[in-house]
Amino acid sequence: KEIVVSGIRPTGYLHLGNYFGAIRNFIRMQEDFNCYIFVADWHSLTTHPDPKDLPGNVMRVLAENIASGLDPEKAVVYAQSDVPEIAELYLLMNMLAYVGELEKVPTFKDKVRLQPQNVNAGLLTYPVLMAVDILIQRAVKVPVGKDQGQHLEMARNFAQRFNHRYGNLFPEPAAFNYGDSLVRIASLDGNGKMSKSENEMATIYLADEDDKIIQKLKKAKTDSGTGEPGAPMPESVANLITLMELVSTPEVVKFYQDAWANQTIRFGDMKKQLGEDMVKFVGPIRERAKELQRDTDYMHKIMKQGAEKARANASATLQEAKKLIGLKYY
Ligand code: TYM
Repeated sequence: KEIVVSGIRPTGYLHLGNYFGAIRNFIRMQEDFNCYIFVADWHSLTTHPDPKDLPGNVMRVLAENIASGLDPEKAVVYAQSDVPEIAELYLLMNMLAYVGELEKVPTFKDKVRLQPQNVNAGLLTYPVLMAVDILIQRAVKVPVGKDQGQHLEMARNFAQRFNHRYGNLFPEPAAFNYGDSLVRIASLDGNGKMSKSENEMATIYLADEDDKIIQKLKKAKTDSGTGEPGAPMPESVANLITLMELVSTPEVVKFYQDAWANQTIRFGDMKKQLGEDMVKFVGPIRERAKELQRDTDYMHKIMKQGAEKARANASATLQEAKKLIGLKYY
Protein backbone atom coordinates (compact mmCIF):
# COMPACT_ATOMS: atom_id res chain seq x y z
CA LYS A 1 0.00 0.00 0.00
CA GLU A 2 1.18 3.53 -0.78
CA ILE A 3 2.12 5.66 2.20
CA VAL A 4 0.25 8.87 3.01
CA VAL A 5 1.24 11.57 5.52
CA SER A 6 -0.58 14.69 6.61
CA GLY A 7 -0.53 17.03 9.60
CA ILE A 8 -2.68 19.71 11.19
CA ARG A 9 -1.36 22.41 13.54
CA PRO A 10 -3.07 22.69 16.94
CA THR A 11 -3.30 26.47 16.74
CA GLY A 12 -7.07 26.87 17.16
CA TYR A 13 -10.45 25.37 16.43
CA LEU A 14 -10.67 23.34 13.22
CA HIS A 15 -12.92 24.82 10.54
CA LEU A 16 -14.56 23.92 7.24
CA GLY A 17 -11.34 24.69 5.34
CA ASN A 18 -9.46 22.06 7.35
CA TYR A 19 -12.30 19.62 6.88
CA PHE A 20 -12.78 19.98 3.13
CA GLY A 21 -9.13 20.67 2.29
CA ALA A 22 -7.67 17.87 4.37
CA ILE A 23 -9.74 15.75 6.79
CA ARG A 24 -12.27 14.63 4.19
CA ASN A 25 -9.41 13.13 2.21
CA PHE A 26 -7.94 11.38 5.27
CA ILE A 27 -11.21 9.57 5.84
CA ARG A 28 -11.36 8.22 2.31
CA MET A 29 -7.66 7.48 2.03
CA GLN A 30 -7.51 5.43 5.24
CA GLU A 31 -9.45 2.70 3.40
CA ASP A 32 -6.90 2.26 0.60
CA PHE A 33 -3.59 3.65 1.82
CA ASN A 34 -1.20 3.34 4.71
CA CYS A 35 -2.03 6.66 6.39
CA TYR A 36 0.02 8.58 8.97
CA ILE A 37 -2.02 11.51 10.29
CA PHE A 38 -0.53 13.71 13.01
CA VAL A 39 -0.99 16.84 15.08
CA ALA A 40 1.86 19.20 14.18
CA ASP A 41 2.55 20.46 17.72
CA TRP A 42 6.19 21.41 17.06
CA HIS A 43 5.05 23.49 14.10
CA SER A 44 2.65 25.39 16.35
CA LEU A 45 5.49 26.53 18.64
CA THR A 46 6.54 29.17 16.08
CA THR A 47 3.76 31.37 17.50
CA HIS A 48 4.68 30.71 21.17
CA PRO A 49 1.38 29.22 22.44
CA ASP A 50 0.66 29.30 26.17
CA PRO A 51 1.99 26.01 27.63
CA LYS A 52 -1.20 25.49 29.58
CA ASP A 53 -3.30 25.63 26.39
CA LEU A 54 -1.24 23.23 24.31
CA PRO A 55 -2.38 19.81 25.63
CA GLY A 56 -6.05 20.76 25.32
CA ASN A 57 -5.55 22.07 21.80
CA VAL A 58 -3.73 18.92 20.70
CA MET A 59 -6.45 16.74 22.20
CA ARG A 60 -9.20 18.73 20.51
CA VAL A 61 -7.59 18.54 17.08
CA LEU A 62 -7.28 14.77 17.47
CA ALA A 63 -10.85 14.46 18.77
CA GLU A 64 -12.21 16.55 15.89
CA ASN A 65 -10.40 14.37 13.37
CA ILE A 66 -11.71 11.17 14.92
CA ALA A 67 -15.22 12.62 15.28
CA SER A 68 -15.06 13.40 11.54
CA GLY A 69 -14.39 9.74 10.79
CA LEU A 70 -10.64 9.25 11.09
CA ASP A 71 -10.22 5.73 12.49
CA PRO A 72 -7.13 5.15 14.70
CA GLU A 73 -7.38 1.43 13.95
CA LYS A 74 -7.01 2.09 10.20
CA ALA A 75 -4.71 5.13 10.18
CA VAL A 76 -1.69 5.77 12.38
CA VAL A 77 -2.68 8.83 14.45
CA TYR A 78 -0.09 10.62 16.61
CA ALA A 79 1.44 13.82 17.94
CA GLN A 80 4.53 14.98 16.06
CA SER A 81 6.52 15.56 19.28
CA ASP A 82 6.00 11.91 20.26
CA VAL A 83 8.27 10.97 17.34
CA PRO A 84 11.76 12.34 18.21
CA GLU A 85 13.21 10.69 15.08
CA ILE A 86 11.61 13.58 13.16
CA ALA A 87 13.77 16.07 15.07
CA GLU A 88 16.96 14.17 14.28
CA LEU A 89 16.26 13.91 10.56
CA TYR A 90 15.27 17.60 10.62
CA LEU A 91 18.74 18.45 11.93
CA LEU A 92 20.32 16.45 9.12
CA MET A 93 18.06 17.91 6.44
CA ASN A 94 18.77 21.48 7.56
CA MET A 95 22.31 21.01 6.21
CA LEU A 96 20.81 20.64 2.73
CA ALA A 97 18.44 23.61 2.99
CA TYR A 98 19.65 27.01 1.85
CA VAL A 99 18.77 30.18 3.75
CA GLY A 100 18.18 31.97 0.43
CA GLU A 101 15.51 29.55 -0.75
CA LEU A 102 13.81 29.52 2.67
CA GLU A 103 13.65 33.32 2.79
CA LYS A 104 11.82 33.32 -0.53
CA VAL A 105 8.93 31.09 0.65
CA PRO A 106 5.66 33.09 0.50
CA THR A 107 4.36 31.76 3.86
CA PHE A 108 7.62 32.94 5.50
CA LYS A 109 7.34 36.37 3.91
CA ASP A 110 3.73 36.58 5.18
CA LYS A 111 4.87 35.78 8.71
CA VAL A 112 7.58 38.42 8.58
CA ARG A 113 4.83 40.88 7.72
CA LEU A 114 2.30 39.58 10.29
CA GLN A 115 4.57 38.94 13.28
CA PRO A 116 7.65 41.16 12.74
CA GLN A 117 8.37 41.04 16.48
CA ASN A 118 8.84 37.25 16.34
CA VAL A 119 10.68 36.16 13.18
CA ASN A 120 12.29 33.11 14.78
CA ALA A 121 14.53 30.55 13.07
CA GLY A 122 11.76 27.95 13.41
CA LEU A 123 9.62 29.97 11.03
CA LEU A 124 12.42 30.08 8.48
CA THR A 125 13.01 26.34 8.59
CA TYR A 126 9.31 25.43 8.79
CA PRO A 127 9.37 23.90 5.27
CA VAL A 128 12.33 21.69 6.25
CA LEU A 129 10.48 20.29 9.26
CA MET A 130 7.36 19.78 7.17
CA ALA A 131 9.35 17.98 4.46
CA VAL A 132 10.85 15.70 7.10
CA ASP A 133 7.39 14.90 8.58
CA ILE A 134 6.56 13.52 5.15
CA LEU A 135 9.88 12.03 4.04
CA ILE A 136 10.59 10.18 7.27
CA GLN A 137 7.56 7.97 6.64
CA ARG A 138 8.52 7.77 2.94
CA ALA A 139 5.10 9.02 1.89
CA VAL A 140 4.13 9.51 -1.74
CA LYS A 141 0.77 11.24 -1.28
CA VAL A 142 0.02 14.19 0.99
CA PRO A 143 -3.63 15.26 1.32
CA VAL A 144 -3.61 19.03 1.92
CA GLY A 145 -5.45 22.19 0.94
CA LYS A 146 -4.24 24.56 -1.75
CA ASP A 147 -2.27 26.76 0.66
CA GLN A 148 0.25 23.93 1.21
CA GLY A 149 1.12 23.36 -2.45
CA GLN A 150 4.36 25.34 -2.30
CA HIS A 151 5.54 23.46 0.80
CA LEU A 152 5.09 20.18 -1.04
CA GLU A 153 7.22 21.45 -3.90
CA MET A 154 9.96 22.15 -1.37
CA ALA A 155 9.58 18.70 0.13
CA ARG A 156 10.23 17.24 -3.33
CA ASN A 157 13.30 19.46 -3.72
CA PHE A 158 14.75 18.29 -0.41
CA ALA A 159 14.04 14.66 -1.29
CA GLN A 160 15.82 15.05 -4.63
CA ARG A 161 18.75 16.86 -3.10
CA PHE A 162 19.28 14.19 -0.46
CA ASN A 163 18.90 11.36 -2.97
CA HIS A 164 21.33 13.02 -5.35
CA ARG A 165 24.00 13.63 -2.74
CA TYR A 166 23.77 10.49 -0.60
CA GLY A 167 21.85 7.86 -2.59
CA ASN A 168 18.26 7.00 -3.21
CA LEU A 169 16.20 6.96 -0.06
CA PHE A 170 13.16 9.20 -0.35
CA PRO A 171 10.29 8.93 -2.85
CA GLU A 172 9.05 12.34 -4.06
CA PRO A 173 5.75 13.21 -2.38
CA ALA A 174 2.87 14.98 -4.14
CA ALA A 175 -0.02 17.01 -2.77
CA PHE A 176 -3.26 15.09 -3.12
CA ASN A 177 -6.99 15.67 -3.26
CA TYR A 178 -9.79 13.43 -4.51
CA GLY A 179 -11.01 15.57 -7.42
CA ASP A 180 -8.88 17.40 -9.92
CA SER A 181 -7.32 20.23 -7.91
CA LEU A 182 -6.45 21.21 -4.35
CA VAL A 183 -9.25 22.78 -2.33
CA ARG A 184 -9.42 26.33 -1.00
CA ILE A 185 -12.42 27.26 1.14
CA ALA A 186 -12.97 31.02 1.18
CA SER A 187 -13.80 33.06 4.24
CA LEU A 188 -17.49 34.09 4.56
CA ASP A 189 -16.63 37.79 4.41
CA GLY A 190 -14.88 37.36 1.07
CA ASN A 191 -11.47 38.31 2.51
CA GLY A 192 -9.10 35.47 1.72
CA LYS A 193 -9.31 31.85 2.86
CA MET A 194 -10.95 30.49 5.98
CA SER A 195 -8.28 30.22 8.65
CA LYS A 196 -7.97 29.35 12.31
CA SER A 197 -6.89 32.83 13.34
CA GLU A 198 -8.77 35.19 11.01
CA ASN A 199 -12.19 36.77 11.47
CA GLU A 200 -14.20 34.46 13.72
CA MET A 201 -17.58 35.44 12.29
CA ALA A 202 -16.37 34.59 8.77
CA THR A 203 -15.17 31.10 9.70
CA ILE A 204 -17.34 28.09 10.50
CA TYR A 205 -15.72 25.89 13.11
CA LEU A 206 -16.46 22.20 13.66
CA ALA A 207 -17.11 23.17 17.31
CA ASP A 208 -19.72 25.85 16.49
CA GLU A 209 -23.18 25.46 18.04
CA ASP A 210 -26.15 25.28 15.64
CA ASP A 211 -27.36 28.84 16.21
CA LYS A 212 -23.83 30.18 15.67
CA ILE A 213 -23.59 28.42 12.31
CA ILE A 214 -26.93 29.81 11.19
CA GLN A 215 -26.01 33.29 12.38
CA LYS A 216 -22.66 33.23 10.57
CA LEU A 217 -24.20 32.09 7.30
CA LYS A 218 -26.89 34.74 7.59
CA LYS A 219 -24.13 37.36 7.74
CA ALA A 220 -22.13 35.84 4.87
CA LYS A 221 -21.29 38.22 2.08
CA THR A 222 -23.50 38.07 -1.02
CA ASP A 223 -23.84 40.50 -3.89
CA SER A 224 -27.31 41.55 -4.93
CA GLY A 225 -28.49 40.16 -8.27
CA THR A 226 -27.80 42.35 -11.30
CA GLY A 227 -31.25 41.85 -12.76
CA GLU A 228 -29.69 40.57 -15.96
CA PRO A 229 -30.06 36.85 -16.64
CA GLY A 230 -26.75 35.23 -17.49
CA ALA A 231 -24.64 37.68 -15.45
CA PRO A 232 -21.41 36.03 -14.23
CA MET A 233 -21.64 34.75 -10.66
CA PRO A 234 -19.68 36.92 -8.20
CA GLU A 235 -17.12 35.17 -6.02
CA SER A 236 -19.16 35.63 -2.82
CA VAL A 237 -22.10 33.72 -4.31
CA ALA A 238 -19.83 31.09 -5.87
CA ASN A 239 -18.31 30.52 -2.42
CA LEU A 240 -21.74 29.80 -0.93
CA ILE A 241 -22.49 27.45 -3.83
CA THR A 242 -19.20 25.65 -3.07
CA LEU A 243 -20.28 25.13 0.53
CA MET A 244 -23.67 23.91 -0.70
CA GLU A 245 -21.98 21.42 -2.98
CA LEU A 246 -20.24 20.03 0.08
CA VAL A 247 -23.21 19.71 2.44
CA SER A 248 -26.46 19.98 0.44
CA THR A 249 -28.11 17.62 -2.04
CA PRO A 250 -27.35 18.01 -5.77
CA GLU A 251 -30.99 19.09 -6.30
CA VAL A 252 -30.58 21.99 -3.88
CA VAL A 253 -27.32 23.05 -5.54
CA LYS A 254 -28.90 22.98 -8.99
CA PHE A 255 -31.92 24.94 -7.77
CA TYR A 256 -29.75 27.82 -6.56
CA GLN A 257 -27.43 27.72 -9.56
CA ASP A 258 -30.46 28.05 -11.83
CA ALA A 259 -31.90 30.73 -9.57
CA TRP A 260 -28.72 32.74 -10.06
CA ALA A 261 -28.73 32.17 -13.81
CA ASN A 262 -32.23 33.54 -14.26
CA GLN A 263 -31.84 36.10 -11.49
CA THR A 264 -34.70 34.85 -9.35
CA ILE A 265 -32.29 34.01 -6.52
CA ARG A 266 -33.31 34.95 -2.96
CA PHE A 267 -30.21 35.09 -0.83
CA GLY A 268 -32.18 34.93 2.42
CA ASP A 269 -33.69 31.58 1.40
CA MET A 270 -30.38 30.34 0.09
CA LYS A 271 -28.58 31.08 3.36
CA LYS A 272 -31.39 29.52 5.38
CA GLN A 273 -31.19 26.31 3.35
CA LEU A 274 -27.41 26.24 3.58
CA GLY A 275 -27.65 26.88 7.33
CA GLU A 276 -29.94 23.89 7.83
CA ASP A 277 -27.76 21.59 5.76
CA MET A 278 -24.59 22.85 7.46
CA VAL A 279 -26.05 22.23 10.92
CA LYS A 280 -26.91 18.66 9.91
CA PHE A 281 -23.32 18.20 8.80
CA VAL A 282 -21.41 19.91 11.64
CA GLY A 283 -23.73 19.02 14.57
CA PRO A 284 -22.87 15.30 14.86
CA ILE A 285 -19.12 15.96 14.47
CA ARG A 286 -19.22 18.62 17.19
CA GLU A 287 -21.09 16.40 19.65
CA ARG A 288 -18.89 13.36 19.01
CA ALA A 289 -15.75 15.49 19.44
CA LYS A 290 -17.02 16.72 22.82
CA GLU A 291 -17.56 13.14 24.00
CA LEU A 292 -14.11 12.07 22.83
CA GLN A 293 -12.42 14.97 24.62
CA ARG A 294 -14.00 13.84 27.86
CA ASP A 295 -12.66 10.30 27.35
CA THR A 296 -9.03 11.10 28.12
CA ASP A 297 -8.12 7.43 28.74
CA TYR A 298 -9.15 6.54 25.21
CA MET A 299 -7.42 9.58 23.71
CA HIS A 300 -4.17 8.82 25.52
CA LYS A 301 -4.35 5.18 24.49
CA ILE A 302 -4.68 5.94 20.80
CA MET A 303 -1.92 8.58 20.96
CA LYS A 304 0.50 6.11 22.50
CA GLN A 305 -0.45 3.38 20.08
CA GLY A 306 -0.03 5.79 17.12
CA ALA A 307 3.30 7.10 18.36
CA GLU A 308 4.70 3.59 18.62
CA LYS A 309 3.81 2.73 15.02
CA ALA A 310 4.95 6.11 13.68
CA ARG A 311 8.27 5.76 15.50
CA ALA A 312 8.92 2.25 14.19
CA ASN A 313 8.60 3.37 10.57
CA ALA A 314 10.43 6.68 11.16
CA SER A 315 13.30 5.00 12.92
CA ALA A 316 13.93 2.64 9.99
CA THR A 317 14.21 5.61 7.60
CA LEU A 318 16.42 7.59 9.99
CA GLN A 319 18.87 4.69 10.36
CA GLU A 320 19.21 4.41 6.58
CA ALA A 321 19.67 8.16 6.23
CA LYS A 322 22.46 8.16 8.82
CA LYS A 323 24.19 5.25 7.14
CA LEU A 324 24.07 7.00 3.76
CA ILE A 325 25.45 10.23 5.25
CA GLY A 326 28.32 8.36 6.91
CA LEU A 327 27.14 8.64 10.49
CA LYS A 328 27.50 4.95 11.27
CA TYR A 329 30.62 3.98 13.22
CA TYR A 330 29.93 0.54 14.66
P1 TYM B 1 -2.81 23.83 8.83
O1 TYM B 1 -2.82 23.36 10.25
O2 TYM B 1 -2.78 25.29 8.59
O3 TYM B 1 -4.07 23.26 8.09
C1 TYM B 1 -4.39 21.88 8.11
C2 TYM B 1 -4.91 21.45 6.75
O4 TYM B 1 -6.09 22.20 6.40
C3 TYM B 1 -5.90 22.78 5.11
N1 TYM B 1 -6.59 24.09 5.05
C4 TYM B 1 -7.44 24.46 4.08
N2 TYM B 1 -7.87 23.83 2.97
C5 TYM B 1 -8.76 24.48 2.20
N3 TYM B 1 -9.26 25.71 2.48
C6 TYM B 1 -8.85 26.40 3.57
N4 TYM B 1 -9.36 27.60 3.84
C7 TYM B 1 -7.90 25.77 4.42
N5 TYM B 1 -7.29 26.14 5.58
C8 TYM B 1 -6.49 25.09 5.95
C9 TYM B 1 -4.40 22.94 4.96
O5 TYM B 1 -4.02 23.01 3.60
C10 TYM B 1 -3.89 21.68 5.63
O6 TYM B 1 -3.95 20.58 4.74
N6 TYM B 1 1.94 23.12 7.38
C11 TYM B 1 0.67 22.46 7.65
C12 TYM B 1 0.78 21.36 8.69
C13 TYM B 1 1.80 20.33 8.39
C14 TYM B 1 1.73 19.31 7.39
C15 TYM B 1 2.92 18.57 7.53
C16 TYM B 1 0.80 18.98 6.41
C17 TYM B 1 2.96 20.16 9.05
N7 TYM B 1 3.66 19.10 8.53
C18 TYM B 1 3.21 17.46 6.68
C19 TYM B 1 1.08 17.90 5.59
C20 TYM B 1 2.26 17.16 5.73
C21 TYM B 1 -0.32 23.48 8.15
O7 TYM B 1 0.06 24.50 8.69
O8 TYM B 1 -1.63 23.11 8.06
